[in-house]
Amino acid sequence: MSDNQVFPVTAAASANTHCTKDNYKALYEQSVKDPDAFWGKEAKRLDWITPFTIVKNTDFTGDISVKWFEDGTLNACVNCVDRHLPEKENVTALIWEGDNPDDSVHVTYGDLYEHVCRFANVLKQQGVQKGDRVTIYMPMILEAVYAMLACARIGAVHSVVFGGFSPDAVAGRVLNCESDYIITADEGVRGGKHVPLKANVDEALKQCPNVKSVLVIQHTGGIVGWVEGRDVWYHEAVKSVTADCPAEEMNAEDPLFILYTSGSTGQPKGVLHTTGGYLVWASMTHEYAFDYKDGEIYWCTADVGWVTGHSYIVYGPLANGATSLVFEGIPTYPDASRFWQVCEKHKVNIFYTAPTAIRALMRLGEEPVKKYDRSSIRLLGSVGEPINPEAWLWYYNVVGEARCPIVDTWWQTETGGIMISPLPGAVDLKPGSATLPFFGVQPALVDADGKFLEGAASGNLVITDSWPGQMRTVYGDHERFKQTYFSAYKGLYFTGDGCRRDADGYYWITGRVDDVINVSGHRLGTAEVESALVAHAGVSEAAVVGFPHDIKGQGIYAYVTPPAGVEATEDLRKELVTWVRKEIGPIATPDHIQFAPGLPKTRSGKIMRRILRKIAENEYGSLGDTSTLADPAVVDDLIKNRRNK
Ligand code: PRX
Repeated sequence: MSDNQVFPVTAAASANTHCTKDNYKALYEQSVKDPDAFWGKEAKRLDWITPFTIVKNTDFTGDISVKWFEDGTLNACVNCVDRHLPEKENVTALIWEGDNPDDSVHVTYGDLYEHVCRFANVLKQQGVQKGDRVTIYMPMILEAVYAMLACARIGAVHSVVFGGFSPDAVAGRVLNCESDYIITADEGVRGGKHVPLKANVDEALKQCPNVKSVLVIQHTGGIVGWVEGRDVWYHEAVKSVTADCPAEEMNAEDPLFILYTSGSTGQPKGVLHTTGGYLVWASMTHEYAFDYKDGEIYWCTADVGWVTGHSYIVYGPLANGATSLVFEGIPTYPDASRFWQVCEKHKVNIFYTAPTAIRALMRLGEEPVKKYDRSSIRLLGSVGEPINPEAWLWYYNVVGEARCPIVDTWWQTETGGIMISPLPGAVDLKPGSATLPFFGVQPALVDADGKFLEGAASGNLVITDSWPGQMRTVYGDHERFKQTYFSAYKGLYFTGDGCRRDADGYYWITGRVDDVINVSGHRLGTAEVESALVAHAGVSEAAVVGFPHDIKGQGIYAYVTPPAGVEATEDLRKELVTWVRKEIGPIATPDHIQFAPGLPKTRSGKIMRRILRKIAENEYGSLGDTSTLADPAVVDDLIKNRRNK
């Protein structure tokens, strides 16, 4: 896409925005030149119990230490709930829209306070104490939000595991953070189909004998198994508690949550976020990137199992006293108009979704969009993967009727919140570009040797200094934190993304440069899928790569070598697909499995993924140098039998 296709900020769009063209630059300069002054002032958006005197204390060298507001104390739940009372007692905090279009509920800030306090008291009754890790494996129901805030209220550290993950994935995460408590529901519902969450937990916990209590929300009323002495119905436990629950005073650097995310090696790692800096970041970015104004209805379609749900359904909007919509369903149920029907029904003003959803809906034409009134929408957002200009233009013209700016927000689980994004009213838009950095964010591009690239250039995206929302460590493994993010380039945070900067200084994220694939905006490590495959008796070796996919952004292509004596049959192929779904979850379903008698390896035994990627991308004409391969003949076989024709 041309760097010159610009959608300038219009006078109408810049009226009353938080930031204007004139002050974006000045504020940005201030934020990076004097972070202590800028963030010292900005952090006052929260209520502190003991005010901080130290703002920034961070070091990207040596042992890597990130601390913000380190001598301040506060409680995240109080900042999201209590402090909006009594003024917002009757203002809607959450709107729940069920999978079934007939189901919706409004919860005021007054109600939210009661629900969260009761939930927190139930957790205490179960024995949960400050610092304990609590695993939340829930559908998109209000209790998922109550559970997160209840943990924050009593100083417990939540680890939300996406409801689409398998029992094995749940078990791995429970064991990794030594979580003794689980919160789940009988079942989830998505697109009319029931998801057996409690049954999955039962299966997972066969591997986790440490777990003391499983709190179960009754959602569908489906039949569930029961372990006496371990399992507790929430609706029964809540009868015996009051709505009075004092909040714990937490240090700014006390952990708020752990969220597992995939990397290029090994099993997913527990990204740890702490209380003060994270909440300042979530709150400020929500207010500025969405230009949120009091009274607006804001809808982020993510799941609370991902970081987007943490920062932009729960913590950011609620810290700002916003009305945040929680959606249980999917974009295509009961039909392809669902998003727009919900927008009309609840008069949504700000709508934030992922490019994969846009691409899927774009295929179904304009009619399902136009069927519903979208005049309430004034701002659109995109997150999770690069948005291709074609999808951007459709989103802009068809959904937004060419009157709503699109904020293409680049960030990561690790960054806690939005890092590069246009600010409405302040930054001209270019379809496909996340545009310019948020306050305090100092992006840079480096080449493979770590040399800084100036001006218009393409390279690896790094961030040169800390920002308040940054992850603090990998839970229980600080070495891995250092290794993953700070070993590639000394003194710099490496994002794992490739990026281009144009002559206007705009950033264009080009995708991951490591062995991470982004399937429908969800991160998966190729190593994870490979280890699931080799755990099957019909696989002796596997290599997984991503390839461009029209709707998902990237698809999963697996090369599999069966052991001697095992036949590469269609049945085995199907079985492996089912196997990976069971081992990880449906998001890891391989699109293609190619049986390969041999994988392209160097003489030292290293798989040359570059070649596998090219074949999966159907670009086998440009394989580059294959002379270092131990057996160049394997490549011909791979090309002959490729699946993605
Ligand atoms: O590759 C980038 C891509 O998603 C990765 C982060 O994934 P995750 O931690 O799961 O968080 C997703 C939601 C924030 C990034 O390294 N990514 C995210 N947003 C964008 C993006 N790529 C391009 N444009 C974006 N707006």
